[in-house]
Amino acid sequence: MRFVFFTDIHLLENKDSIIGFEKCLDRMLAFGPQLLINGGDLGVTPQAVNTYHEMIKGLDIPVYQVNGNHEICNGFLTPERAGQFSRSFDHDGVHFVIFDTVRFFTPTDEHPQNWYFIADPQNLEWLATDLARIPKQMPIILASHCSISTSAPFRFGQELGMEFPVNEVTEATKVVNLLKPFDSVATLHGHDHENCRHRADGIQILTTAAVAGGWWRNGLESPNISGEPQGFRVIDVTCGQIESQYVMLQESQSQLASWYTQAKSMRHFINVFDASPETKVHIENIGELQPLDAFSDSAKGLSPHLYELSANHLEQIGASERINVTIDFENGQTNQLEIDCSAVLYM
Ligand SMILES: [Fe+2]
Repeated sequence: MRFVFFTDIHLLENKDSIIGFEKCLDRMLAFGPQLLINGGDLGVTPQAVNTYHEMIKGLDIPVYQVNGNHEICNGFLTPERAGQFSRSFDHDGVHFVIFDTVRFFTPTDEHPQNWYFIADPQNLEWLATDLARIPKQMPIILASHCSISTSAPFRFGQELGMEFPVNEVTEATKVVNLLKPFDSVATLHGHDHENCRHRADGIQILTTAAVAGGWWRNGLESPNISGEPQGFRVIDVTCGQIESQYVMLQESQSQLASWYTQAKSMRHFINVFDASPETKVHIENIGELQPLDAFSDSAKGLSPHLYELSANHLEQIGASERINVTIDFENGQTNQLEIDCSAVLYM
């Protein structure tokens, strides 16, 4: 079966969000999904929620909603209702879980956000009961707004292990422990506005970049935090195997990778927008590149899907304006592309 996960649409912020989400709906439906899952953060105003529901009401496939932290800002999720939205359903041989982790927090000087994320005892108990009836071989998809396995707080200099976390989920390892006995599990997340695919105890963690990218600051040309163009994730479940692809909002951006230069350090990378640690990247006549180690100091302020060029690599590239790159994904898909080496600077 095929379905689509899209997240962080942030309607009515900055420029062209309505045009952009219309485009997104058309693009997603063109892939023939059986259902859609929205990973949360519709927008910060009640009007954003109304606009969203107006825009999806004519669709003839189900659209499931995961609550994001903005659902507290926009009033959809009142403090009393937070934590009451976990649910599950089976569709075409796949078990789907919507797992609700957003909770209200009364802001303080030290914690100005009005939300935090937790897998609380009530929801963990519900999940354990829900999964108890699922056969070990049945593929499972769990969607929650903030990732249950993330290096983003470490990489972006935020406090780790805080008591009411805004970029992690308290007790997330208990969710992983409930899921890991199953043969084929993938979890879907947003919130970070970046792609980050990796495995945790055999589970595929598929954090997905935002439809809004950089909050629609430049309309449909608003890259995500690590340079990924705006897009969504198409997921196929075939004979128990879960595979996915990140798809750009605009066909003209349908490319897998780009050159990436970090302005403050002048470090240079190949940015493979949806790479995992198993993805191999090779520059013709120059050699293989290594991905960043997500929990090393060299990854601070950067994404793990960046592949750094050494001084030796740069010397070999010399004055070339374009390089030929081969990308081997772990599902056996091989792609060859030409990349423009002119510096696109990122902070
Ligand atoms: Fe969020």
